[in-house]
Amino acid sequence: MSFSSRIPNFYNLTIEERRNTIAKLLELTEEEITILEGKAISDEALSFMIENVVGRLSLPLGIATNFIVNSKEYLVPMAIEETSVVAAASHAAKIARKTGGFKAEYSGSFVAGQIQVLSVQNFELAEKNIQSNISNLLEIANSTNKILTNLGGGAKDIEIRRIKGQLESYLVLHLIVDVKDAMGANAVNTMLEALRPEIEKLTGGTVLLRIISNLADKRYVKVEAVFDKKELGGENIVDKILLAYDLADHDPYRCATHNKGIMNGIIAVLIATGNDTRAVEAGAHVYATKDGGYKSLTKFKKNEDGDLIGYLEIPLSIGILGGAINMNQSYKAALKILGVSNVDEFACIVAAVGLAQNVAALRALVSEGIQKGHMTLHARNIAINVGAKGDKIEEIAQQMIEEEKISFDRAKEILDNLNT
Ligand code: MEV
Repeated sequence: MSFSSRIPNFYNLTIEERRNTIAKLLELTEEEITILEGKAISDEALSFMIENVVGRLSLPLGIATNFIVNSKEYLVPMAIEETSVVAAASHAAKIARKTGGFKAEYSGSFVAGQIQVLSVQNFELAEKNIQSNISNLLEIANSTNKILTNLGGGAKDIEIRRIKGQLESYLVLHLIVDVKDAMGANAVNTMLEALRPEIEKLTGGTVLLRIISNLADKRYVKVEAVFDKKELGGENIVDKILLAYDLADHDPYRCATHNKGIMNGIIAVLIATGNDTRAVEAGAHVYATKDGGYKSLTKFKKNEDGDLIGYLEIPLSIGILGGAINMNQSYKAALKILGVSNVDEFACIVAAVGLAQNVAALRALVSEGIQKGHMTLHARNIAINVGAKGDKIEEIAQQMIEEEKISFDRAKEILDNLNT
């Protein structure tokens, strides 16, 4: 299917018109359109997802436009409660598409499952026994998941570590598993359980924890893009972005917010597609400390033309099948909108959105400030909250912005005036 993710005026359409535009471009079925309307999941299915279900929670699902990743066009579904995030990602993607879009590379889906062994009397002997039995241990692990091994995935290696804790020293084994297109936590945890008896026999110790590590440093994406200086607002904006980045890279107080901006985009795509956002968030922030100190996940420099080069490297424990994705048709519809056929492609897009989000936030912060964009949507929200309908929403919002008085009281006054 070939289409352009550049849809001029998309922003000004109604929700229904946008839905129809997307449906036409991506050949969505009637059923998928109904799902996008929010009629995706039955009460019964919900009650199988978590415990004590009493209802459902709605979030807006937006579409970020303009994305080109590895020369392919993408419309990116994003679910988030925060205003401006979707618009900002689309804006930075529009700038990047001028220079060919985002170039990204995925490492492959290798994750580590950890086994903590207690009370090991002879570490050298335990390690030697594990080392000489690796192929047997991999066989045990792989016997739990024929589907994965038939796809060429499965347990591939075991790494041996010693960790000195305060209470004792532990032998920690990492089972390295290629989980292919799944997030993989269930597959890996099942393998770890199966290994327990053999590990205890080989080490003479007692196995305590058997759980995947969310520091997915063998499962990451590297993404890069060039952002044209004119489109960003001039070379002085590029220079100011470099100064903002410099502060983030040297000050954890600023860096937490800087990296949060990256996660705004990433998490929104992951919510829309039913991924485990907490796993990715936890992994990303630990990864940000890998060079000592808490650092920016993005890197920036200027090329000889004065344009901004942005780079992001981020671990991504994500999948396009299994887990919650199977339970909720809206996740499947979001993946269909993305049009990805494997996790490699998906991960590259997710990282591209993270980089775009960061560039958009930095551009706004060093120029007009972040509040202007926020305030326009905020003003509309307030107008809706005081009961405005149709054209009046925009009218009230614009008047409040012009007056620089954005409040419930002022919105109510303007609405009352319009109604008299
Ligand atoms: C707001 O959700 C995100 C920003 O604070 C990110 C940043 O400061 O870089 C705007």
